[in-house]
Amino acid sequence: MKDIYLVYPKKIGNISPEIYGHFSEHIGGVFYDGLWVGKNSEIPNIRGFRKDLIEKLRVIKPAVLRWPGGCYAETYHWRDGIGKNRPTRINWWTGFDHRMETNDVGTHEFLDLCELIGAKPYFAANLTSMTPMDIRNWMDYCLSPRGSTTLALEREKNGHPDTFDIPFWGVGNENWGGGGNMMPEFYGDECRRYGVIMRNVAPNAELYACGTNGPEFSWTQKLAPKLVNADAKFNGFAMHYYCGTKRCGPLEFDKAAWDESLKSASQMETIINRNWNILSGYGLDNVKLIVDEWGIWHPDGTGPSKGYNLFEQQSTINDAMISALTLNIFNNHCDKVRMANVAQLVNNLHCLFLAGGDQMIVTPTYHVFDMFKEHQGADAIESIVTDNDDITHRVSVSASVKNGKTLVTLGNFSFDESVEIRICPFGAEIGNKATMTLLSADDLRAHNTFDASEAVKPVTMSVDPTKPIVLPKGGIAAVSFE
Ligand code: AHR
Repeated sequence: MKDIYLVYPKKIGNISPEIYGHFSEHIGGVFYDGLWVGKNSEIPNIRGFRKDLIEKLRVIKPAVLRWPGGCYAETYHWRDGIGKNRPTRINWWTGFDHRMETNDVGTHEFLDLCELIGAKPYFAANLTSMTPMDIRNWMDYCLSPRGSTTLALEREKNGHPDTFDIPFWGVGNENWGGGGNMMPEFYGDECRRYGVIMRNVAPNAELYACGTNGPEFSWTQKLAPKLVNADAKFNGFAMHYYCGTKRCGPLEFDKAAWDESLKSASQMETIINRNWNILSGYGLDNVKLIVDEWGIWHPDGTGPSKGYNLFEQQSTINDAMISALTLNIFNNHCDKVRMANVAQLVNNLHCLFLAGGDQMIVTPTYHVFDMFKEHQGADAIESIVTDNDDITHRVSVSASVKNGKTLVTLGNFSFDESVEIRICPFGAEIGNKATMTLLSADDLRAHNTFDASEAVKPVTMSVDPTKPIVLPKGGIAAVSFE
């Protein structure tokens, strides 16, 4: 038996809805096969985007969608995706062996997608192969008031007279690697140079500097002094962390691999704390953490395209548990984490959807986002689990309060044992009615396929808040108190 203390007087902060954010890159089958089927397709679509997927996506209230990459962003010229007669190019990030980039989806189409799903757009600017002038022009095209500039008139000619609202801009992507392979000091200067131009065009936008590759804190130590007193006044530090070992495929894990994956995912907490401490040490308290790529990275080839779509992977209760654990960590650090984007939405790494032809399914990770969505905009409170040191039997938890209702989300790390949990409120009453939504499976390797699309799905039941709840092995729960 474990007790969970809900410490109501200890408010951590407000959970930014953008923590429940997503990422869609022009890579593999994310757009072509996944999100985009084309306006003339026989597959039901809304303005070219797969209709059933759009409808499912709306349900989980995706707060933000990042685009066009990823490292692809560092090869992308916005002009390729504007107007008629768009060029087909090799996707310069994934290379000759992969799908060509037709540019069917460009700025207007992507922003259409955001509008359809109710997400705010987050653009990643290219610092590797575009000049500051190119980026300034893209921003001018998108953000200048109706009728004001030549580029605003071109936008109008292309069907959108009104300014686009793009509140978030990344100043590069993975500039320590695929984004120019820069040293932190050099990137620091580049990001100040590009940042100041971007700030001039978008005084109220949030600008994010490129953060660490997981626990590579020397990047933070060397970059932080460059962010101090930068005229761009950066709002965020955008770090990436992919957990996992690539030791076995996503459907083949045993207890050891399960435990290892959860241990590696738990490192997210250390990465958040250490980056935050370094930035705070430089007085950069206004620079919040953005985790704009996260998830588990398995070997490819297990998705429906059987390896044709780069980085496509199947998803089990293991991936769902990593989602639950990671979202709980973000909630518990919502005073530091401003935004997070799981990588990536469709037919890719830690995805929520798998699609191909006229078929589409949701993964167990989708269900976790659905079960956790009421944390968005809620106040996180401290939740402490007793007897929680052993990682193989740990329970992950976070709790929040919104409109007088408490939501507690939990994950039982144990590969083979259920756990009894008592919820103990301090400093407030939790009421006498509660509902639990539970995602679990007898076989933790269970997953959804086109033929068995509901092999893994949650069930909802009433529970008595005065009695312990039972979380099966690998079980994930969202308990909501009236
Ligand atoms: O998400 C896939 C790739 O992983 C992205 O392009 C890159 O930013 C990261 O290395």
